[in-house]
Amino acid sequence: MKKLEILGTGRALAGKRVTNDDLARLVDTSDEWISTRTGIKERRFCDEGEDAYSLAEEASRKAITSAAIDSSEIDCVVCGTISGYYVTPSMACVIQKRLGLREDIPVLDVNAACSGFIYGLEVARGLLSSTGGRYALVIGCEELSRLIDMTDRNTCVLFGDGAGAVVAEAADEGLYESVLGARGGYEITVTGPGPEVSRIGMDGKEVFKFAVDAIPKCIDALKVKSGIELADVDAFVCHQANARILDHCIRKMKLDPSLFYKNMDRYGNTSAASVPMALDELLETRGAGAGSTLMLVGFGGGLTWAGVLIKISDRYKCADQRGGSV
Ligand code: UT7
Repeated sequence: MKKLEILGTGRALAGKRVTNDDLARLVDTSDEWISTRTGIKERRFCDEGEDAYSLAEEASRKAITSAAIDSSEIDCVVCGTISGYYVTPSMACVIQKRLGLREDIPVLDVNAACSGFIYGLEVARGLLSSTGGRYALVIGCEELSRLIDMTDRNTCVLFGDGAGAVVAEAADEGLYESVLGARGGYEITVTGPGPEVSRIGMDGKEVFKFAVDAIPKCIDALKVKSGIELADVDAFVCHQANARILDHCIRKMKLDPSLFYKNMDRYGNTSAASVPMALDELLETRGAGAGSTLMLVGFGGGLTWAGVLIKISDRYKCADQRGGSV
């Protein structure tokens, strides 16, 4: 099996900022409750003229720019999402068309809820290994504002829209390890959208317990499988569901909190988009950059979990540093 390195990253933010106070005008909640229970202050919803597809396209274009490759060099596309408008075509196929990518490549969506992007990386690794391809475009994209029941205060305060994408390059050698799993269960359900109002249902307490168990398990498994010391990991990019979940895990594992990137205060929980969005933001704005070693960890509906230990290519530059756009 090939290994993967991250060569390029991109993200797209939805245009409409929705603060906790905005939501407190719709349901019986408060900025105080939302921020102390979740760390979320605001989230982005798609504005007029935007949707999941436009966000996925923008993030993908930036990732390809960041990777400094031609889009015709992409050898597979995998999109983690639960927000597609169609059962078919997949979101990945829509993006393939919009970007004018080659036709002789595998293109598909992965539904692993909030673990979808990391599952997507592993699917892409398998595809590159079996086809002999070099570059994968892996996307995480959600438009959860379409799926939220805006009368349910238990869930409507948690989620947001967004997209992140990476160009991953297959490598014969190097540091790469992965762990994937699922428990099977109905703790998080999403129905619709259809003629009825769509609904995200969640047993928050059960999912919280699951998450604080799953994250340390993933990190430990990656450590054991790779033989790496956690002190040699430059940053941890976890699914941005809730700041309290991450703080709990950091305390439990006695890790340095500054190594855990957090941006749920600004974007809320964007499901499959949260890890690639946080990754791109981290690489653009913080020290961790070319040559760094990261752990990415996701958990969510299914109940799924996923982690990868992955290197950022020595050739990495963010899209802004490259300039231009494909
Ligand atoms: O991406 C998928 C992964 N999802 C997650 O990781 C979510 C994991 N779970 C959580 O993050 C937390 O469980 C929540 C943030 C969803 C909820 O926090 P909690 O501390 O577990 O609260 P709770 O569900 O036990 O509710 C406590 C109280 C209840 O009132 P009573 O029964 O004690 O009177 C709720 O009705 O808070 C009430 N409540 C609210 N109050 C104000 C629930 N939602 C709200 C709200 N505003 N938005």
